[in-house]
Formats: sequence, structure tokens, C-alpha cells
Amino acid sequence: MTEYLPIEEVLDKKKVGAEVSIRGWVYRARTGGGMLFLVFRDSTGIIQVAVKKDRVSEKAWKEAEACTRIESSAIAKGVVVEDKRAPEGFELQATDFTAINAAEVFPIAKDNSEEWLLDIRHLAIRSRELTAVMKVKATVLEGCREFFKKKGYWETTPPIIVSGACEGGSTLFSFNYFGKKAFLSQSAQLYLEAIIFSLEKVYAITPSFRAEKSRTLRHLAEYWHVEGEEAHMNHEQLVAFEEEMVSFICHKVAKERAKELKFLGREPKDIEAVKPPFHRMRYDEAIEALRKKGMQVEWGDDFGADEEKVLTAELKKPLFVTHFPKHIKAFYMKQDPDDERLALCNDLLAPEGFGEIIGASQREDNNEALITRLRANGQDTKAFEWYLDLRRFGSVPHSGFGMGVERLVRWICKLEHIRDTIPFPRVINRAYP
Ligand code: 4AD
Ligand code: MG
Repeated sequence: MTEYLPIEEVLDKKKVGAEVSIRGWVYRARTGGGMLFLVFRDSTGIIQVAVKKDRVSEKAWKEAEACTRIESSAIAKGVVVEDKRAPEGFELQATDFTAINAAEVFPIAKDNSEEWLLDIRHLAIRSRELTAVMKVKATVLEGCREFFKKKGYWETTPPIIVSGACEGGSTLFSFNYFGKKAFLSQSAQLYLEAIIFSLEKVYAITPSFRAEKSRTLRHLAEYWHVEGEEAHMNHEQLVAFEEEMVSFICHKVAKERAKELKFLGREPKDIEAVKPPFHRMRYDEAIEALRKKGMQVEWGDDFGADEEKVLTAELKKPLFVTHFPKHIKAFYMKQDPDDERLALCNDLLAPEGFGEIIGASQREDNNEALITRLRANGQDTKAFEWYLDLRRFGSVPHSGFGMGVERLVRWICKLEHIRDTIPFPRVINRAYP
């Protein structure tokens, strides 16, 4: 049986002179003077295949000619030579060629509009950029799981169909669930809080849904959420955990995905430099810093993309903003015992203006306080009866966080738009393809 080499392995001085077989898709094609230059692409890289009419069988020549339309799939066998003019410095001089599927005219060209590229996203994901981003994302997810394992956390599987809002009603998707109203989960948090009473340290990686009614560079209607929750953990310990986790992931990606990062225009050493301690600022200090930079903000205002950008534009490491006013944060956050106006919480902001990647807090573990907060928010306590039970039966101090995978990947890969961190972005007015 023929052994096919990944293209990445063919691009190696040690392979020069060897005859190898590859299979992939035609990425670029050029013809001329009894020659075909077909650049092949596979999941690992690209290489130019030179097919010379008088060096291959008639059948092989015909099959190569049939594959001059890009995205044709084919098999090439040939001898590896070094060639400075070829895209990656090596060329495969074909001795045989087999077409797998001669493609139709591929509907993607250089000057396509963004909307068109989204309409044919199922084809656009073959681009080298999106391939590189998807690899980085896979490594990020692997890093999350490794880190949790190292910390003794159990992976768990909370529901996606839920009965109440974790993050407020305005971004909640509802649907008809056997004649009753149910929702798509915005966060697994409340369920993770229940599960800590059996497993103590738990995490989940799930899709989360937000009915974001505006188009921005950092919001998706469906995104992947990494959430952790730990019994007996306080806010200080939570901050240390987040810092260590983000650093761990960054180091892993810098080490294992350096090639992809460079391809995307991100220096791996920028990401490798991310290590504890991160910058830290209390909300009060952030308000002051923003005013100094000329922003019009009042104590009690929440931060949006603009404020986060100003706070982090010059930074190389992430910034924790802690102790927000509790009335602008979710009902479940624990009140600061030193200042009842504040919550024991933090947002972790990525540097270089990329903005929030984690939302985290110590949780309100007192039943009365929780009920008061729910009522103050105008939320129906009935939907939260089960959650309130958690404060009635062996309540303990505990903390947790949620990290947006696409937000993290956008920063690590230095991407303009969050939609390129997910193969099939779901944004307002788009659920196709
Ligand atoms: O800050 P958020 O809303 O916090 C929660 O959902 C908590 N219940 C999490 C927890 O403590 N378990 O969301 C957490 C993170 C944000 O920091 C952001 O990274 C990401 O989720 N996120 C989004 N990512 C992409 N598109 C959206 N529309 C997002 N909304 C939040
Ligand atoms: Mg948040």
C-alpha cells in the first residue's frame, strides 16, 4: 500500500532526492511549455508539484491537466528537489499523477466581498489563515483540559437547554420546549455551582448562546465557553487560578503552534511573555485611569469595548479589573464585605486593546442576600428555586469563571474579527451555512 507523506514532512532537506507520494488539493495552478505547476495543499502545508509532459505517462499527464482548476483533489508521486523559486523552497518533480476529483470552477477569488465569503464559508474554511486559526484553537482547548487536569478538576456536562437566565434576560434565546418556554444556555455556571457539591472542582466546555442584537468585532450569538467552579475558593485564589491558566495556555500555544502564529502575523514570543503576575486595577482606579485619558465615564458605568481598549492598548500582559459596583454585575456575585456597593469579581482583559476574555467572581453563598439581589434585578425567584436550594443545604464559599474561547483565540492570533476564530460563525442575521 502506498504511504502518503504529510506535505510538512516533504519540506525537509533530508527528503531531497527521495521519491514520495502526497495527496491533497490544488491550491494554485500554472501551465506553460509542456509543464504544469500545481501547488498542492494538505492540512500541514503547501508544496509545488511540477508535472512535465515527457516525464510522465500519457494517462498521468491527462489526469494532471484535468486538475488545473483549484481545489481539485489529487495524488502526486515524485522526486523531492530543492528549488528556491518554489513557494516553500522545495518542489516535487512528478513521476506519476492521479486525479481524485477534478473540481468545478471554485467560487472564491481574490476580490470577494466579506459577505460572499461568509455565504460560502463551507468552502472558505479551506484557506490557510482559517486552517492556522483552527489549529491554534484546538491547541487552546487541549491546553484548557490539561490545565484543569493538573489542578484536579473534573470535566462535566451541564445542560444546554435551561429554564432561567444566568446573565440577564436581554440576550436570552427562547424557544418552544414541548409547549413551554425554555432557553439556550448563556453560561453553565449555575449548574456547575450545583455540581461542586459532589465533585468540588469542576469545569465544562460548552457552547453558550447570546442573542446579541448588534454586530461587533467580538460578539457571537453562539460561542464556546470554558467555565470552572471550585468549592472553598475565594476571590484572591480565583484571580491566581485565572492568571496561571491563561499563562499555561499561552506558553503551550507559543511552543506548539509557533509556525501558525507567525503565519498569522503574531510573534510567538509576545504570547510566551504572558506570565504571572498580570496587571491589576480596581474598578475605582480604572474609572480614574479612563478619565485621565479623556474618557467621559461616571462611577457606576459599565465598560464597553472602547473603555477596555483604552485601558489595555499599551499593555503586553492581561489586566484584571476587580471590584466592580455590584449593581452593574450579575445577581450571583458575592458582595464585598469591605464595601457593600461592590462585588468580589473580576474581568480579565486581554492586552493590546483586545478586551474582556474572562468574567469571574466569588459567588454569593448567603440565601437571603441572593434573594434580595434577584428581586432587585426584577428576576423571577421561582425559576431559581433549585439554585437557592444550594444555599440551604451545606452552602460553602466558592468561586468560578467563564472564558470565551473565541475571545482568547482572537487575541492570541491577533485577529481583527471574532468570526474568524470559529468555522461557522453565528451572528445577527446569519445561521447559514
Ligand atoms: O462575562 P460573562 O457574561 O460571564 C458569564 O457568563 C459567567 N456566568 C461565567 C462564569 O462565571 N462561569 O461571559 C464570560 C465570557 C466573557 O468574558 C467573554 O470572554 C465570553 O464569555 N463572551 C462572549 N464571547 C463571544 N461572544 C459573545 N457574545 C460573548 N459573551 C460573552
Ligand atoms: Mg462579562
